Amino acid sequence: MADIITELFSEEIITAKIRELGRQISQDYAEKEIKLICVLRGASVFYAELAKRITVPVRFDFISVSSYGDGTESSGRIKIRKELDEPVEGEHVILVEDIIDTGRTLKTVRQMLLERGAVSVALASLLDKPSRRKVQIEGDYIGFEIPDEFVVGYGLDYQQRYRNLPYIGKIISNQE
Ligand code: IMP
Ligand code: MG
Repeated sequence: MADIITELFSEEIITAKIRELGRQISQDYAEKEIKLICVLRGASVFYAELAKRITVPVRFDFISVSSYGDGTESSGRIKIRKELDEPVEGEHVILVEDIIDTGRTLKTVRQMLLERGAVSVALASLLDKPSRRKVQIEGDYIGFEIPDEFVVGYGLDYQQRYRNLPYIGKIISNQE
């Protein structure tokens, strides 16, 4: 088991981009308080870095969902594995994801938060694969757009590995 991974976005490039997103969010939410919600587990690394770059008041919460799918694609029917600790009623929420792929997970979670009474729900995602979209949804704060290829690192996994890589890369060969 020795996958070969080629780097697509370096730690420096990612850090600079996250600073930019943090600045943008801080401007857009001036005078407001943000409920920053991390979609576990993939968003965890991006979430922590992004939170540090936001200068308006922020409160943290975490949710974990799994989507029923055919194995390769999510279906949009989700199961909550870890519920939020606090209600979102009356809150300005920013949902933080690792990647928007088909868009089904985020669309479903966003809808659920709005039904629970969130005033607004914006979407922040480190990566976006717009060519894979199956439902109409757009991120508000996107790090990088990528083509339809599978990436790992900076929170993203391949069979639960590589989340801790400090960069984003692509697996180019898989030698068992
Ligand atoms: P979707 O937008 O509902 O299809 O689901 C997006 C989820 O699929 C993400 O949160 C990731 O967990 C996973 N995912 C999609 N593309 C990749 C990838 O390239 N690498 C790692 N995980 C991915
Ligand atoms: Mg995920």
